[in-house]
Amino acid sequence: MHRRHAVKLAAAAVVAAMAGGAAAQGKPVKVGFMLPYTGTYAALATAIENGFKLYVDEHGGKLAGQQIEYVRVDDESDPSKATDNVNKLIKRDQVDVVVGTVHSGVAMAMAKAAKDSGTLLIVPNAGADAVTGPMCAPNIFRTSFSNWQPGYAMGEVAAKRGYKKAVTITWKYAAGEESVNGFKESFTKAGGQIVKELTLPFPREEFQALLTEIASIKPDVVYTFFAGAGAVKFVKDYAAAGLGKSIPLVGAGFLTDGTLEAQGEAAQGLLTTLHYADGLDNAKDKSFRLAYAKAYKLQPDVYAVQGYDAAQMLGIGLAAAKGDMSKRDAMYAAMAKARIDSPRGAFTLSKSHNPVQDIYLRKVVGKTNQVQGVAAKALADPGRGCRM
Ligand code: BEZ
Repeated sequence: MHRRHAVKLAAAAVVAAMAGGAAAQGKPVKVGFMLPYTGTYAALATAIENGFKLYVDEHGGKLAGQQIEYVRVDDESDPSKATDNVNKLIKRDQVDVVVGTVHSGVAMAMAKAAKDSGTLLIVPNAGADAVTGPMCAPNIFRTSFSNWQPGYAMGEVAAKRGYKKAVTITWKYAAGEESVNGFKESFTKAGGQIVKELTLPFPREEFQALLTEIASIKPDVVYTFFAGAGAVKFVKDYAAAGLGKSIPLVGAGFLTDGTLEAQGEAAQGLLTTLHYADGLDNAKDKSFRLAYAKAYKLQPDVYAVQGYDAAQMLGIGLAAAKGDMSKRDAMYAAMAKARIDSPRGAFTLSKSHNPVQDIYLRKVVGKTNQVQGVAAKALADPGRGCRM
């Protein structure tokens, strides 16, 4: 071959590789985890990362044949630092995809940055209704839930059990407020009444005065959203105040997921609604639980499932793009119409990219959230305000 011709061919190969993105250059796909590795939600962050990595490890450290590499940022569940934190991943580290986060307030800042920069964002927990509502976008996907979903399912359960008057108690931020709104919507539609809405700032745990107020109101039922370390403290305080025996406590399932070891006796018999449960009769869950326990010497929880499914979703997108992250349209089209074979049971996405999924009724028995049945079948978030 003439030297000039060989040089031309080499130059063309470089141009093709540049146009082809990560795949053509054989570069790993860079995943940026933005999660709260410290604070009240720290255990949730670990479970999400574990779940994600388990799926990737099950595929030899690759998705769709592409090597996966990780960077991480601790978002501390602090919305005021969220924009700076997500830009560390997007601008400084130039990640191919951001996976995060847990806290709804932080997630809303991340969704804005993802929308502005066009970076792919997969949300493996935070339920902020806005993320798959007014902030929805072709490059934003969620593998968890909207805050509305478990709350709405529990409102129906509580009304069917004949409760008429409810008090709600939660942290005053998007997740708590939207969870309560979901409960309120179905509970009041069925004739129930919310007699008092109690809140305290996130992530405070001084529940005593509010528990005294509940005792004096004597509602038929108390609905709550708490998660992580705050949920452990709340359930223990509720029982210690003697309320467990007189006023039934129900909640979104985060109240008792990943927390039962620490809550012990105080959690026994609690009823919650969530898109995951112990004792689901599906093969995927059985193999997932075995693999997770073997890899991490821990039992998985809902957060681990959501992380695992975030990796599955990315894998589906990458496969459709033949490992080439620059083929955004093919990736997003495949992710949007994916049917994810999740340990929770298979799910699809709504038009606004939120899981359409069964919400289970669970009861705490020992250290498990035993499934009692399906509280809401294939429940889709209404996606209010999403124009896509
Ligand atoms: C949230 O902030 O969206 C959230 C946090 C923990 C558990 C569930 C939801």
